[in-house]
Amino acid sequence: MRAWQISSFGIDSLEFVERPTPSPDPGQVLVKVRAISFNYRDLLMVKGLYNPKLKFPRIPCSDGAGEVVATGEGVTAWKPGDRVMGIFMQNWHDGELTPIKARGALGGDIDGVLAEYIVLNEDGLVRIPQHLSFQEASTLPCAAVTAWNALAAGRLRPGATILIQGTGGVAIFALQLARLHGLRVLGISSSDDKLQRASSLGLDAGLNYTENPDWDRWALEETSGEGVDLVVEVGGIATMPTSIKAIRIGGTIAQIGILSGPADLAANIPFPIPSILHKQARIQGIYVGSRKDFEEMNKAIVLTQLRPIGENFHWSQAREALTRMEESSHFGKLVLTIA
Ligand SMILES: NC(=O)c1ccc[n+]([C@@H]2O[C@H](COP(=O)([O-])OP(=O)(O)OC[C@H]3O[C@@H](n4cnc5c(N)ncnc54)[C@H](OP(=O)(O)O)[C@@H]3O)[C@@H](O)[C@H]2O)c1
Repeated sequence: MRAWQISSFGIDSLEFVERPTPSPDPGQVLVKVRAISFNYRDLLMVKGLYNPKLKFPRIPCSDGAGEVVATGEGVTAWKPGDRVMGIFMQNWHDGELTPIKARGALGGDIDGVLAEYIVLNEDGLVRIPQHLSFQEASTLPCAAVTAWNALAAGRLRPGATILIQGTGGVAIFALQLARLHGLRVLGISSSDDKLQRASSLGLDAGLNYTENPDWDRWALEETSGEGVDLVVEVGGIATMPTSIKAIRIGGTIAQIGILSGPADLAANIPFPIPSILHKQARIQGIYVGSRKDFEEMNKAIVLTQLRPIGENFHWSQAREALTRMEESSHFGKLVLTIA
């Protein structure tokens, strides 16, 4: 089979190689991968910024969708022809995260899905909602489940206001899922055009953060001086102080991302500790979610016929798609199709 692998760091070093097609052991399933989507983590992984000690060679990417082509002895959950997606952390099926469950993330701890075939344990898969294509389904395992759990962290009721940052995979899923919950969504982006596009998906109000770095003031104005109920925080160290100022008293920050760079930047950024206590802020770290979270989200996706938003590439263009992510020129998800 063909696969992309990381043998040394850098987008240009990503190798398109021939590898033996794996076969399923007892309890395992062989999946023919039909589509893959990129997450920012994959970019960091390829560049050596996620895990500088990554073992080579490693097949990257956590998110893929395909069909079952063979099952190992004793498999009862799946049969050939079933349409499936892998779960991000192969050992986190339900309940709270533990150190053991956190091991086994695809495209990091173990080989990922940027390959024509993958073998996964039968409990490391979920069924694709019927109305979704393989391309659409490939966007769900990491970004959508993360956005789903970020909203859950806010314990929100319809009518509450959330703020999303940027227009990438997690942010656009947060917007789409928030609309299902009857939430009001404010969004900040580097681009007026992207804000316009987000408006067509239901964004209530948008602001260009490049032109208006004090977007916390805008968030307060938009909420009659109170602040937002939840920030879906993907910027990280440079945006967190502004997010704290943008939430209401008792509001929540779902801490997800690190887009603004490494934590050692923090020395130059004043961190508003007093605001955290005065606001009784809740800062909840989010790390994707379990298979159960994924299955629950899929029920909502089926019920509302939600369709993910993405841009398609052929999988031979993996490097081009990653470069697009590096430039932040995309909107929603970046998807690769294996013809
Ligand atoms: N904790 C978890 O479980 C988890 C899961 C998924 C993702 N993540 C993390 O969440 C972040 C987003 O991931 P993603 O896959 O959605 O990324 P993505 O698709 O690459 O989206 C990034 C977008 O965010 C905006 N952006 C870039 N830098 C920003 C900044 N400094 N402040 C605010 N917005 C900024 C840009 O949109 P505009 O051009 O519109 O501004 C950019 O296109 C990454 O750090 C990723 O590692 C974490």
